[in-house]
Amino acid sequence: MIHRTKVTVVGAGNVGATCADVLATREVCNEVVLLDIKDGFAEGKALDIWETSPVNSYDTRTVGSTNDYSKTAGSDVVVITSGLPRKPGMSRDDLIATNAGIVKSVTEQILPHSPEAIIVIVSNPLDVMTYQAWKTAGLPDHRVVGMAGVLDTARYRAFLAEALDVSPKDIQAVLMGGHGDTMVPLPRYTTVGGIPVTEMIDSEALDAIVQRTKKGGGEIVQLLGTSAWYAPGAAAAQMVEAIVKDQKRIFPCCARLTGQYGLSDLYLGVPVKLGSKGVEEIIELQLNGDEMALLHESAKAVKEVAEVLDAMAV
Ligand code: NAI
Ligand code: 2OP
Repeated sequence: MIHRTKVTVVGAGNVGATCADVLATREVCNEVVLLDIKDGFAEGKALDIWETSPVNSYDTRTVGSTNDYSKTAGSDVVVITSGLPRKPGMSRDDLIATNAGIVKSVTEQILPHSPEAIIVIVSNPLDVMTYQAWKTAGLPDHRVVGMAGVLDTARYRAFLAEALDVSPKDIQAVLMGGHGDTMVPLPRYTTVGGIPVTEMIDSEALDAIVQRTKKGGGEIVQLLGTSAWYAPGAAAAQMVEAIVKDQKRIFPCCARLTGQYGLSDLYLGVPVKLGSKGVEEIIELQLNGDEMALLHESAKAVKEVAEVLDAMAV
């Protein structure tokens, strides 16, 4: 029988609904289920998205559910966006206790209905929520992955495209570390149409872009009073596409490290190969001393939050 691909997005808020919209509009899968705890909310968003199908000319079916997990049964990928977003003055880590409880409960309810699913976490604080989902799920490492690097590199690439007045399509970049101010953009691995970025921009301007990227989430929070959704939703959808279509894309993702980069037993942003098995490979770059030091600093910050989470015993 032909397999109909199905993706569930938990949380029909700003990021979840945007992700569902991108998945549907780009026909990434046959069916998208949007689930939320707020009565009628996911149904309303799913219906509104479905009503764009004749206009935008696609046939992916979008279905909503108020906390009825039976509708998510047989999902190939589950994206978890449920949780509180950042408000001005809040760090991503302020969200830890509430969102850890939500991620745990959603993971527990998803798996009985979709035992084969790859789980993509979006809820913040991202690296630690991905760790929380992995702890709850008891799945092999490759089946639980977090979205942050695709968004953070998208911001970095967008800023560079603007500064250089070139197409963002031509900018390729890698960024590592945690989803926070300690993230590590890597200019040495950034190219513009195959040309090292350092040959296209002076170091002062590049450094300003790196600094802006690190605070890219906060910049939007300041402007909107809540966190971003267009770029995060699209970034999560791009990861889903790589998995559903077994594209073997190379993306920076939050993956579980087991000795790579001299780090183990934590979820952190690293370049990976993303395909139908989820994280199919963690790519180990030859980082120089400074880059490695920054990565370890970022790992330390993430580990501290993970220890806070462990101590909470959510
Ligand atoms: P939002 O408030 O618009 O949507 C969250 C939705 O989750 C709400 O509709 C809420 O009813 C739902 N929800 C809460 N508890 C639930 C539960 N137990 N089961 C099902 N649904 C539940 O928030 P937004 O802007 O969509 O952000 C969602 C999360 O994503 C936040 O934690 C935010 O910090 C994070 N985020 C992460 C990014 C990343 O790069 N990883 C980027 C942007 C946001
Ligand atoms: C972002 O980077 C706040 O994680 C959220 O936009």
